[in-house]
Amino acid sequence: MRLLIQLRKMSAANVPLSALRLKYMEKKQAFLEENIRVKEPITLFKEWMNQALQTEEIIEPNAASLATVGSDGCPSNRFVLLKDISDEGFTFFTNYGSRKAQNIASNPNVAMTLYWCPLRRSIRIEGVAEKIPQEDSLKYFHERPRASQIGALASEQSSRIPSRKHLDEIEKKIKQELGDDKAVPLPNWGGYLIRPKLIEFWQGQTDRLHDRIVFRKYSGVEKEIDNVLVHPAENGWVYERLAP
Ligand SMILES: Cc1cc2nc3c(=O)[nH]c(=O)nc-3n(C[C@H](O)[C@H](O)[C@H](O)COP(=O)(O)O)c2cc1C
Repeated sequence: MRLLIQLRKMSAANVPLSALRLKYMEKKQAFLEENIRVKEPITLFKEWMNQALQTEEIIEPNAASLATVGSDGCPSNRFVLLKDISDEGFTFFTNYGSRKAQNIASNPNVAMTLYWCPLRRSIRIEGVAEKIPQEDSLKYFHERPRASQIGALASEQSSRIPSRKHLDEIEKKIKQELGDDKAVPLPNWGGYLIRPKLIEFWQGQTDRLHDRIVFRKYSGVEKEIDNVLVHPAENGWVYERLAP
């Protein structure tokens, strides 16, 4: 690993990206079905997240790429921070007037991907997003540092602005109006819950025969479960292994 970093530093300007090779997991560290303690993806997600939280090199383990689709049928994605994981799904917070929010309003189908490089692991989530109750958004909003609350109020996320200075002036005006003690009013901002339909757990192997185990909401068609390609899981899920 150190050698790889040195090489990259030495030839930073002209290192061919095609030559970059990171060592992934060895055969004996393969991610196998028998390693899954509870055959249920939310529990497994929490276990993987806990391992990511305990891995020092991963400085923002809850950073996740969120993909949405616009009314024109075109996808776009951006990072958000995952703020809650429950049996119902995955919650992130954002501006309700932003581009992503407009996308979700016209098409609530979303996808999210996390990548934890030091663990050679990635998780993909596909599901349907819905706004969380306003009182829950309000509660979380006021738990954030005051500067972040003011920042959220000052920024009509995704709208065009003339300059950085423009934003600073709005922030200054809000600070003057609120003083030090007035509560920051909730802007057009809040949480989305992604109710998952599919969650894939990926672990990279050095021989490129990566492990991919996908949990899918069970469609209810019994003959689907053959215990060869499709296996029963808990809480209305089935799981299957995909070729890498
Ligand atoms: C690591 C990281 C975390 C982010 N977390 C959030 C977040 O939780 N909510 C959010 O609205 N934007 C977040 N952003 C900014 C978004 O990536 C994006 O710039 C913004 O939400 C506007 O996206 P949109 O115009 O597609 O709606 C984050 C960016 C990064 C790089």
